[in-house]
Amino acid sequence: MSDHQLTAQEASTRIAEAADLSALEALRVEYLGKQGSISGLLKTLGKMSPEERQEKAPAIQALRQSVADALTARKDEMEAAELEARLATETIDLTLPAPQAPKGSVHPVSQVMDELAEIFADLGFAVATGPEIEDDWYNFTALNMPESHPARAMHDTFYFPDAAPKGGKMLLRTHTSPVQVRTMMAEGAPLRIIAPGRVYRSDSDATHTPMFHQIEGLVIDRDIHLGHLKWTLETFLKAFFETEDIVLRLRPSYFPFTEPSVEVDVGFAIENGQDGKLRRILGGSGDEPGHGWMELLGSGMVNRRVIEFAGLDPDEWQGFAFGLGVDRLAMLKYGMDDLRAFFDGDSRWLSHYGFSPFDQPTLSAGVGAKA
Ligand code: PHE
Repeated sequence: MSDHQLTAQEASTRIAEAADLSALEALRVEYLGKQGSISGLLKTLGKMSPEERQEKAPAIQALRQSVADALTARKDEMEAAELEARLATETIDLTLPAPQAPKGSVHPVSQVMDELAEIFADLGFAVATGPEIEDDWYNFTALNMPESHPARAMHDTFYFPDAAPKGGKMLLRTHTSPVQVRTMMAEGAPLRIIAPGRVYRSDSDATHTPMFHQIEGLVIDRDIHLGHLKWTLETFLKAFFETEDIVLRLRPSYFPFTEPSVEVDVGFAIENGQDGKLRRILGGSGDEPGHGWMELLGSGMVNRRVIEFAGLDPDEWQGFAFGLGVDRLAMLKYGMDDLRAFFDGDSRWLSHYGFSPFDQPTLSAGVGAKA
């Protein structure tokens, strides 16, 4: 047996016996590394005469090849063994009982917000957000309510002791309208957004809770007028209640940040629920006996002053805005009679009124959950 064959045999035994990847790497360096013994043999070829090289080269090349092949084969083997071992430890024991079906459901407020986001996405509105702990300036001043403005009093604001960066005190936002200003300042015009979120007012009875939910809508573009607002609200309310048969009442109103301002009510009828309680259900003209109107939203054309405060030119950009009470929409669509129960966290209420997380609202399947 030639020297080379002996070396090959010895290398192959040592490679087969290598215990792990680092031992294998040490062998590779020893034979094939820059200073390796086989690399050394290859270097001697350069100094040989052409005839001698022709005679010796094949054996040296064959040696190099056989060691390289043995190293690769052993490495593959080790990696396969490692994978086997991992698969063996990561098995799932299918004989174990299935985990209990998860409890919990989607809260009607989240459900309605998802439904609204779906409807407005289809109309080209993106979702924007802003902080719940807000600066007086965004919540009031930039919305055309300077410090002495009487409309501030209507908001029953929760204030913090801390001074706000832009003047006044920090507060819990009383509406989602500050997101109008923040988004205009951050993104400029044109703009089409909705801004869902929590808002806070010091107020509490069957239809008012200190924390509740609104969705703000804002469209800023050229040549926007009241007709766009009316169409948008009608289109969205019909999609939301999944009926053409709703009666809306638009009332002239006043908000410092819109001019003109419009409040929108929807007609409801009173029905005797299965539990014997009276509930409001959608339908009816509101003016018939036993019917009524429920105020759903405030809206209007964005006041020029607000567009200016947000750094845009009101001669170039106009828009409309609206603010919707999400909790009220939920009550009317899904038949709850007391707003306070929304926030009690009573699991019986939640399992009765909640929605399956698998029932995502989509326009094609109908935004209303089948509950
Ligand atoms: N922010 C108003 C409120 O909370 C609602 C509103 C929003 C009115 C946008 C007009 C335009 O009462």
